[in-house]
This record gives sequence, C-alpha cells and structure tokens, in this order.
Amino acid sequence: MASFPHKLSHKLIQAKEKFLFRSLKTNYPSVDFSSNDYLGFSTQGCLHQEIQSLEPSIKMGSTGSRLISGNSVLFNEIEKDIANFHEAETALIFNSGYDANLGLLSSVPQKGDLILSDELIHASLIDGIRLSHATHYKFSHNDIASLLDLVKRHKGTFQEIYVVVESVYSMDGDCAPLIELANICKQYNLHLIVDEAHGIGVFGAQGKGLCQDLNIHNDCFARIYTYGKAMGCHGAAILGSEELKQYLINFSRSFIYTTAMPEHSLLAIKAAYHLLAKTNEIEKLRNNIHYFNSKTNSDNSFIKSTSSLHCKVIAGNKQVQDLEERLSQSNFFVKSIKSPTVKEGQERIRICLHSFNTQQEINLLLELLIQFTSVCW
Ligand SMILES: Cc1ncc(COP(=O)(O)O)c(C=O)c1O
Repeated sequence: MASFPHKLSHKLIQAKEKFLFRSLKTNYPSVDFSSNDYLGFSTQGCLHQEIQSLEPSIKMGSTGSRLISGNSVLFNEIEKDIANFHEAETALIFNSGYDANLGLLSSVPQKGDLILSDELIHASLIDGIRLSHATHYKFSHNDIASLLDLVKRHKGTFQEIYVVVESVYSMDGDCAPLIELANICKQYNLHLIVDEAHGIGVFGAQGKGLCQDLNIHNDCFARIYTYGKAMGCHGAAILGSEELKQYLINFSRSFIYTTAMPEHSLLAIKAAYHLLAKTNEIEKLRNNIHYFNSKTNSDNSFIKSTSSLHCKVIAGNKQVQDLEERLSQSNFFVKSIKSPTVKEGQERIRICLHSFNTQQEINLLLELLIQFTSVCW
C-alpha cells in the first residue's frame, strides 16, 4: 500500500480530537429533521411519477459538455420555462449549486472590481470569490449599516461592485433584508447577486422564492436557484440577462469544462417545476414552520426564522455532537453544526422542517431537546 503523508494523517487525528471528524453514513434515523427535501419531492414518490409521465424513454448520458455534444432542445426548453417561471430574461443550467456559484463568482467580477459579501455566505460562493481576481470584503451579517460603510469607503476606487447574499442563510435560517439591499444597490449602482438555494419551494407564490415574493427580482444582477433542496433532485440555474448568459457560456469554467447534465436529471428538474406549480406541500410546510415558531417563540436559544431552517444555539462542539447522537438514538435525524463552520460559542443543532413532518414529531423533538439539554448541562 502506498504511504500516506504524515502531516495529512495528523490533520485527521486533530479533527477527531476536536469532534470535527466527518464520515459518510448510509443509515439515517427515521424521523427526518435534517434533509433538505423540504417538500418531500424526492422521498414521497411524487417526483418519480411526474418524471415518468413526461418522457418514457430517455438517454442516460449527455455525451459531452454543452459546448461540444451535450446540449439539446430539452435544455433550451427547460431553461426557457425556468426563466418564465422566475420572471427573468434567461436561465442557464449548471450541474450543481456549487458549480453555479463557483462559475459565476470566479468569472464575473474582474480585477479592479469589488465584491462585498455577507459574512455568512455559503462555501460555494466563498470558493468562487477565492478564484476571482476582484478585491473582496465582508460585511456583518444582515447589517445594512456595515454594507453601506464599505460602499461609501470604496465606491470611488473600484469599477464595478458586486453585493453577494443568500435569500435564506443555510446555517442560521434567517432571511436577508432583500428590499433594503435592492434599494442600496439601485442607489449606488451595485450589482446584486442572490443565492435562493433555501428560498425556492419555501417562499413566494408557487414557491418561486423570496426575490419574487418581495418583488425585487428585477433588481438582481443574478439569482441562483438550486434543485437539490426543496425541488428534490439536483442541479442549479443562474438567472439574469441575455448578456449574462452569453458571458457565462463563454467564460464560466465550471459551465464549460464539464460533461452536461443527462436527460433524466433535466427531466427531474422539469417535473419538480410542474409539481411546484400544483402541490399543496408548500402550504403544509408553511403550517409546520408556523407551528414550530409558535412553540419556540419565547426560547431565545433559537435563532429567529421564518424559513424551513431552525437553529438552537448550544455552545461547544462536543455538546452539539452528543446531542445529535442522543437524538439519533431516539430515531430523530437532526444535525449538529460545529465551529469553525459557525463561530466558536455559536455551535448549534440545525432542524430542517418539512411538509411531511407531523405536529406530533415536532412536539416530541422539542420535548427531547429540553430533556437532553437539561440532563447534559
Ligand atoms: C446557500 C447554498 N448555496 C449553494 C449550495 C450548493 O448547492 P448544491 O448542493 O446544488 O451544490 C448550497 C447547499 O449545499 C447552499 O446551502
């Protein structure tokens, strides 16, 4: 067996010592408060039925990148439908949300430009920014004054300024102040980029997302919708102007240098949009969010949230890991979020609410949380 570098082994040992060691599981506790399948599209069989009704015989592989042999009429049709549904000029499909964010942020902001991002944006946006040649500063989470301060200080120094936020923050569950952000971007001529990964399927009419719900979609330079969460499948799309689409096709490396998504994945996206337009799961999810909030409103350890993501802050990596394990022994699937993913002292238990969770399950989960936290600490 080839030898493994000692310094890498050491990093693995350190991760174990800090309760940060990651391993892949195949067995999950049955009461799901952890997956991103907010509407049950992937697990309840409905997406499967919808796909079969669309196309009985489909090609399994796409045979090449979209600029070589992988593009098809189906891609063009679905992108047109996505753009219409989200009221944008164009849509461009990427193989994942990670690819979309990497490809957008690494290619669009140029040397001499400035990226201002919320301090809590997702790793995929951060990695895109790291690959870009633009200057980058963070503003405090959801803090308009902090953003404005940076804008006023740097406005004259840079050619273009991009403001990067998420509509719903994946590790906190709270929403960005999109109306204020859109106003500032208009006032100072900044380009607003909104990642709607956790907004689609949850907010807006037919789950169109928070940008359309708040009617700021036309103020966005780009919006990113991912399909691995409420949509129950995978892939992502970047929505924006015709020129942005042409630019990404020509310069976005995670779009250009990869095999195109196969037809069955494309049809899954199409089916998920069909379902979104007619499902009553969104209503059921919203009822669960409302119910959960009515039960936890007075508990300050929960971060205020109107999305499907709810976090109870409990300091300490060991503490949250122990809690996750104890909940798992009671058959509740809930994930702990540790530092450095979140700030030290802000470690948390992250609860993902779904349309298919019952009120009884929510009650029991909250009771177990009280029971386990009062016994442990
Ligand atoms: C806010 C946000 N953006 C992007 C992604 C990446 O999306 P995907 O899982 O499709 O790569 C995720 C999820 O992992 C996310 O939470």
